[in-house]
Amino acid sequence: MKNIRKNVDDLRSQIGYHNYRYYVLDDPEIPDAEYDRLLRELQSIEKEHPELITPDSPTQRVGALPLKEFGEIKHKLPMLSLDNAFDEQEVSDFDRRIREKLGLDKIEYTAEPKLDGLAVSLLYENGILMRAATRGDGMTGEDITQNARTVPSIPLRLIGKDFPKLLEVRGEVYMTKKGFEQLNERAREKGDKEFANPRNAAAGSLRQLDPKVTATRPLEIACYSIGIVEDGKMPARHSLILKKLREWGLRINPEIKTVSGAKGCMEYYQVIAKKRDGLPYEIDGVVYKVDSIEQQNEMGFVARAPRWAIAHKFPAQEEMTVIEDIEIQVGRTGALTPVARLRPVQVGGVTVSNATLHNEDEIKRKDVRKGDTVIVRRAGDVIPEVVSVVTAKRPKGLHKFEMPTQCPVCKSEVEKEEGEAVVRCVAGLYCPAQRKEAIKHFASRRAMDIEGLGDKLVDQMVEQGLIKDIADLYSLKKEQIAAMERMGEKSAENILKALDKSKQTTLARFIYALGIREVGEATAQTLADELGSMETLRHATEEALLELPDIGPIVATHIIAFFSEKHNRDVITKLQKAGVHWEEGKTTAESDVLKGQTFVLTGTLSAMTRDEAKDRLQALGAKVTGSVSAKTSYVVVGTDAGSKLAKATKLGVSILEENEFLKRLSHWEK
Ligand code: IVH
Repeated sequence: MKNIRKNVDDLRSQIGYHNYRYYVLDDPEIPDAEYDRLLRELQSIEKEHPELITPDSPTQRVGALPLKEFGEIKHKLPMLSLDNAFDEQEVSDFDRRIREKLGLDKIEYTAEPKLDGLAVSLLYENGILMRAATRGDGMTGEDITQNARTVPSIPLRLIGKDFPKLLEVRGEVYMTKKGFEQLNERAREKGDKEFANPRNAAAGSLRQLDPKVTATRPLEIACYSIGIVEDGKMPARHSLILKKLREWGLRINPEIKTVSGAKGCMEYYQVIAKKRDGLPYEIDGVVYKVDSIEQQNEMGFVARAPRWAIAHKFPAQEEMTVIEDIEIQVGRTGALTPVARLRPVQVGGVTVSNATLHNEDEIKRKDVRKGDTVIVRRAGDVIPEVVSVVTAKRPKGLHKFEMPTQCPVCKSEVEKEEGEAVVRCVAGLYCPAQRKEAIKHFASRRAMDIEGLGDKLVDQMVEQGLIKDIADLYSLKKEQIAAMERMGEKSAENILKALDKSKQTTLARFIYALGIREVGEATAQTLADELGSMETLRHATEEALLELPDIGPIVATHIIAFFSEKHNRDVITKLQKAGVHWEEGKTTAESDVLKGQTFVLTGTLSAMTRDEAKDRLQALGAKVTGSVSAKTSYVVVGTDAGSKLAKATKLGVSILEENEFLKRLSHWEK
């Protein structure tokens, strides 16, 4: 029995250690399968000897019975909140108040991202997680111990020996952006209600009465302070406390830094603001905390917030406004996209007056109506979207939205393909809206790269009947271009030059530029590499297409449909007559050093753009795709790489950091 007990103890320590490597250090030492094996071994021993099961056993993460309601927990030390600063002036004032009170010239701060989740308190007794609570009103929270146990990055037992007998750790439980999207996708599939944002999703998941449900939710923790400490010593600086917590196996956000003075704080704010969209989780600002605990104590508190810390908030990404109208836009493939025209509102420092409503199903699900008050959201460069309707503010008598039965631009019929959410105008290139978009796509950088031929210019040219199809571009005259709004002799000349330059292209670019449905850059490249000529592509049968790598039945059908239209074939001939040409031959790659190798690029590279890297790899015969799988040969990671890096690590795919990638690239290109 003594031996078994030792074995169980060993297994638990090992599993705890590997959890720490995986969740805290982000640096697993063993493959997932090996971890699972250890866990299964422990499970089987515990099954035979249930008397050995303890609450800190890794097998106990999921398993507790659902609760009827949460118990209450009174915080021994209140869980405070933070004062906010909305601009640099308020941060300077904060720093000045501290300097004046302490009589110092410069203050050291710890600067941290302000994660958008919910605050929890974890109580460790002799290193074992005994209790977890939500913040509640700061004085009393809810007992969420069973749920907290299901969060993989919350250690059930601390590592090491030098922790205090009683230690309360505080942190934020949150959901990553990716986890949130996947959760909502699952909810959508099941017809369940979706969460409005990752914060709500995290709160809703942690406050589930059934821990088994919580266990299925992708929650994580980042610890940022301590509460009660008994029988043990903690370091005298906040930054060192966090370091200690990390040593004991608690997860600390990797972006945390110690900075000097208000200037250091502002610089940190700018750095994080730039990184924000690339971070795998949502943040709504940064937090500055006086680093010295002695100085913190001297500063003390006001009401519910400490005088030694402040949250420097980013401009809000969600605001409320009114939908003045719902209009329909027709895209390149004929898809009708409803767009909300909004009463202009400032969101995240930018005026937003339009927001996408995606498609008919989305509008129905959210029940968005003209005249509704809605929450709009803008994140980074993505198109602003309507998150939800504030139904309490809905005026009486608003009509439900109905999708039009005709194309609003060309009045042709619309259709909805089975299983698709999108309604499309069937008129194809006869529809002026689709024509405009097709021309814009043809001219775009990754297609024919016609510099200076912007969206507004194309709109005008189509509206004035100057061009009817992409081939007409090459018969434009200087005077015609110069006569357009905001155009002159010089700019017209430049456009003609750009048109001329674009005539020399590659087969892959040309195929992509045609805008065949579902044929993106990668597919166009495959078609060019495998078929080698336009003639072969034009006459390819469905069976022949299906034999090509990565070409499925849907893409094949679209390709066949495209070439069966006489109009499309004529346009290609017209383009070739106008002088558009490319080199034919089976592979467009300049070399085949990387033939058969698949690359995925993720994060920001400093030496070149991802597009450039992609071109250079393709020129070496490599395939560059967007998602990591077991078949991926290499994942090239720049800064702020997110889930793709995690997936590569998990699948054991080779990872190339930028330096190493550049070295190898120059070697391959030799
Ligand atoms: S410190 C006395 N640090 O923000 C210090 N809070 O507005 C209290 N939060 O309730 C909290 N990230 O839920 C702190 N790095 C961070 C934080 C953070 C997010 C949340 C936390 C807190 C709220 C206060």
